[in-house]
Amino acid sequence: MTSIFITYKKLKLVQIIVVVYSEGVFMDEEIKIFRCRICGDPYIGTEAPSRCPFCGAQTKYLIEAANWDPSEFDIEVSEKSQMNLEKALDLEINNSGFYECAMDKAKAAGDEYYIAKFKALKKIEFEHASAICKFLKLSPPSLPAILCSDAPEGNTKEGWCREKRAIESYSQFKREATEPRLKEFFGALVEIETDHLNLHASKL
Ligand SMILES: [Fe+2]
Ligand SMILES: [Fe+2]
Repeated sequence: MTSIFITYKKLKLVQIIVVVYSEGVFMDEEIKIFRCRICGDPYIGTEAPSRCPFCGAQTKYLIEAANWDPSEFDIEVSEKSQMNLEKALDLEINNSGFYECAMDKAKAAGDEYYIAKFKALKKIEFEHASAICKFLKLSPPSLPAILCSDAPEGNTKEGWCREKRAIESYSQFKREATEPRLKEFFGALVEIETDHLNLHASKL
């Protein structure tokens, strides 16, 4: 009786191994956790993506989670940088509200390319606002209602102008920052908004 039971257990084990292999559960690739030094969000994958899926930061800012420094957003901020962070927050919240309007117009028109584009931009700009709030020790504000064009082409043009203004502002804030961490942060935002500028430019 005991030997029948052991044989049955062995059979079950073989069945489990066959299922595990056939479903591809065993993989060569190691699944890792990364963390973005610009927005602080974690990412699970085999390797760091070319851009942070949350804030759009370049891959150089994505580090393995075990190396994360919990004090990244806990820095002394000068009066000037405080003012510039507040201006940046205003700019990001406003742009996020604008892209929300553009996304809703694209939804009404049933245009899948522009729905995806404006949704991604809305989420990224809001992520920037959230990261700025971490430096300012504030809760992220709610999105304001911003007017936009009915046509995606009009919103692409307006988006291009908004990104250009953001790049100019963040370049100035980077120059004015005396804190190395804020220089890095504003520099990363310049790179991200340049991606957005180029994305709009490809459709102008
Ligand atoms: Fe990020
Ligand atoms: Fe942007």
